[in-house]
Formats: sequence, structure tokens, C-alpha cells
Amino acid sequence: MANMSRDLVEAGLGWSWTSGRIKQQIRCPDTVAIVARRSHAMGGFAIMHYLTNEAHLNLLAVCPSCQRTGIGRGLVGWLEESARVAGIRHIHLEVRSTNCTAQAFYRSLGYEEAELIPRYYNGRETAIRMVHKLRRNAGFTQGEQILNVPWGILVIPAKNVPD
Ligand SMILES: CC(C)(COP(=O)(O)OP(=O)(O)OC[C@H]1O[C@@H](n2cnc3c(N)ncnc32)[C@H](O)[C@@H]1OP(=O)(O)O)[C@@H](O)C(=O)NCCC(=O)NCCS
Repeated sequence: MANMSRDLVEAGLGWSWTSGRIKQQIRCPDTVAIVARRSHAMGGFAIMHYLTNEAHLNLLAVCPSCQRTGIGRGLVGWLEESARVAGIRHIHLEVRSTNCTAQAFYRSLGYEEAELIPRYYNGRETAIRMVHKLRRNAGFTQGEQILNVPWGILVIPAKNVPD
């Protein structure tokens, strides 16, 4: 997960989502980390932090060879459904202003641009904050309906993370 963050999310910025930081996230009781898994292969992962009325998507990446097969949509859908059940109404996230693919992806899921945050990344690159207002009762009931591809979603339990 850390390597994917470095190579796919943070390329050219420096590595802030190191394995130590990701382990902290997995151990945090207010955070959920999930992976899309088939056999022993990981297709992608996502990490969301849940607050009282809103949630923040901290990280999301899909392996290049699996992109555009619905895994990203499935991961975000799973986390949004959990948020809905928890009574959360807004999801927000930041995306690099240069990352047009991710912006198109989030727009396709209903996220809207809320504000620009200059020098958000490493004091250098602008972030776009995007927000999605969740609809009540819009959810799914089965994981397979969310991730409409042959991947299962696995929540990473904190106890499985070695020191
Ligand atoms: C952004 C990312 C997570 C999308 O994941 P994905 O699994 O490839 O996306 P999906 O297959 O679920 O796509 C869902 C929809 O998003 C949109 N979309 C996805 N990739 C797109 C692209 N390259 N160009 C335009 N639209 C795109 C499409 O509307 C797509 O639906 P469609 O395939 O039916 O047309 C993936 O490209 C990725 O990991 N990128 C590198 C890391 C990254 O940028 N992470 C986000 C950091 S904020």
C-alpha cells in the first residue's frame, strides 16, 4: 500500500504515506482500510477516516494493470455505504490539481469541487478539495453489488498489522 501511494499517488512530491504512517492509519479506531483482493493479489486499496458527521477519504489507489475495471468505484462505494450506515452525510477528499484521471473518477461518482488549496502538497502543489453529499437509502446491501468485478473486499484488521 505504501509503495502504491509513493508511485501512483505521490509521484514527484516525496513520500509521505510511508508504511509506518499506513500502519498507524490501520490501527486508528476511527479509520477503515480495505483492499480489493483476488486469491493473494491486491487490485487496489482505500483508507477512510470517519468523523461524527463526515468522513475523509485519505488514500485510494488501484494497480495500473487493474485500472478502469471498476475496482476504484467498488472500493469507494463500499466505504460510502459504511459511512451512510454510520449516519454520515458528507465525504470529502483532496486530489492533486494535476491528477486529471482521479478528478474525472471522483466526478463520475458524484463528487464536486469545493475549493482550491494552494501549496497543500509539500508547500508546492495545489489540491482540489472535493465533496460528495451522500443520499439517504441510496445504498447497496451486498458487497458483490458494489464491486461488480471478480474481486472481494477485505477490511484489514488492526491486529494483523505487525510492528
Ligand atoms: C483514480 C483511480 C483510483 C480510479 O480507479 P479505477 O479502478 O481505475 O476506476 P474505475 O474503473 O472504478 O472507474 C470508474 C469511473 O471513473 C471514471 N474514470 C476512471 N478512470 C478514468 C480515466 N482514466 N479517464 C476518465 N475517466 C475515468 C470513469 O467514469 C469510470 O467509469 P467507466 O469505466 O464506466 O467509464 C485509479 O486511476 C488510480 O489508482 N490512479 C492512481 C492513484 C490515484 O490517483 N489515486 C487517487 C488519489 S486522490
